[in-house]
Amino acid sequence: MIYINKKLRIENINLVNIAKKYGTPAYCYSYNQLKDNISSFKRNFASFSPIICFAVKSNTNLRLLKEIKKFGLGADVVSQGELMMAIKAGINPKKIVFSGVGKSTSEITYAIDKRILLLNAESMSEIKKIDKIARSKNRKVKVGLRLNPNTDAKTLSQISTGKKENKFGVNEKTFIELVKYCKNSKNLDLQCLSVHIGSQILNYRPYEKMLKVIDKIISKVNYKFEFIDLGGGMGISYTDKTKQLNYRKYNIAIKKFLKKHNSKIIFEPGRSIIGNVGTLISRIIYIKRNEKKNFIILDAGMNDLIRPALYGAFHNIVPTIRKQRKVKKITEFVGPICESTDKFLSLKKFQELNENDIIAICDVGAYGMSLSSNYNLRPKPIELLIEGSKIKVIRKRQKYTDFI
Ligand code: LLP
Repeated sequence: MIYINKKLRIENINLVNIAKKYGTPAYCYSYNQLKDNISSFKRNFASFSPIICFAVKSNTNLRLLKEIKKFGLGADVVSQGELMMAIKAGINPKKIVFSGVGKSTSEITYAIDKRILLLNAESMSEIKKIDKIARSKNRKVKVGLRLNPNTDAKTLSQISTGKKENKFGVNEKTFIELVKYCKNSKNLDLQCLSVHIGSQILNYRPYEKMLKVIDKIISKVNYKFEFIDLGGGMGISYTDKTKQLNYRKYNIAIKKFLKKHNSKIIFEPGRSIIGNVGTLISRIIYIKRNEKKNFIILDAGMNDLIRPALYGAFHNIVPTIRKQRKVKKITEFVGPICESTDKFLSLKKFQELNENDIIAICDVGAYGMSLSSNYNLRPKPIELLIEGSKIKVIRKRQKYTDFI
C-alpha cells in the first residue's frame, strides 16, 4: 500500500473509491504483492527447489487459489472441503498434501480416490484407518508421518504446534512404531516425514533445532524418506519494528541437512505467501467519546477479522486519507459486535477522524476471511482482487437471503 497525494492506494486504486463503489467492509488483495511474495519465497530456497504447497486454510478464495496455482504451487489441505476447493482451483492432486489430526473416514476415502501426493498421518489409529481403507480398495497409498519434534517455536502459545503438550504429530517412540507398521503393510507406501512446529515464527533457531531432531530420528529408524515436509510457519512483519525471519540461515540449515539426507523438501507456507496481500477496509459508523478515549466504531467486526480478539494479534490500522491534526486522547478501533473483545486496536496520537471516514486494517490476507463467520448474523464481506488499475470481485458480499 502506498500514499499518493495523501490518499491510500493498493496498486493504482484509491481505497476510498473502492469503498464508494463496492461498500464496506471489503477485503482487498494486491495481485502484484502475491506475485512478489511467491517469487521471493522461491528465491529463498532456490538451491534445492522445494515443492511448495500453499496452506489453503490461510485463504480459501477460489480465485486466489487459481492464481497461486498459476505460479506453480501445490496445496496443503486439512479437510475435504479444502481438498475439493484446491482441486476446483485446478491444482494437480499430485501436488496436494493432506494434514490434520482428525481426518474422518470419508475424508480419507476421498483423498485416496483423488490420488493426492501424501496423506500425512498423525496417529497410530489414523494410520490403521488409512491402511484399512486402502486395503478395501486394493490400493497402495502414499503416506507421511507427522513427527512432534518437541521444539518450542517461540511464537504465540495458541499457534504453537510442535511441543509435546500439543495434540499434533507423534512422539519419537510412536514414530518408530509407525515406521515399522508401514513397512509391514502391503497397502501403505511410506514416503514422507512431516513436521510443522507453529505459525508466525520469526526466529530461525527453532527451525534449526527441528532439523536436528529430524536428522536424529531418521538415523534411528534407518529409513529413506522420499520427502521431508517441513510445514510452514514463516512469520511476517505486522509492525515496522518486527525483525524479519532470517531465511538465509534457515536455508543454510536445510542445505546442511540435505547433504546427509537425499530427500525432496516440501513446504506448506500460508501466511508468508498471502498475509501482507490483503487489506480490510472499513467505514466509521460512529465516534463515541468519553473522558479517556475516542471509540471509533467500525462497520467491520470480529466476525470479519477475529485475529485480534482471538489471539490478541496486532494489525495496524491506517487512514485512507492522511491528515496532519492528531488527537490527544486514545483512539480505540472497535467493531459493532456485542462482545468486549470485539476490538481491533488502541493507538495514541492517531490523526483526527470523522464519522463516515474509511480506514484500512493491514496485513489481513492470511487467516482473515478464512476465519470469518456469520456471528451476530452478519453477512460476510466482499473480496476484491486489484491488479494495476483493474478491480475484480472475487467473492460477492453475502446477502441476508443467503442465510435467512
Ligand atoms: N501446515 C500445517 C500442518 C499447519 O497446521 C499450518 C497452519 C500451516 C502449514 C501454515 O502455517 P503458516 O505458514 O500460515 O504459518 N489462525 C492462526 C494461525 C493458525 C495456523 C494453523 N496452522 C492465526 O491467525 O495466526
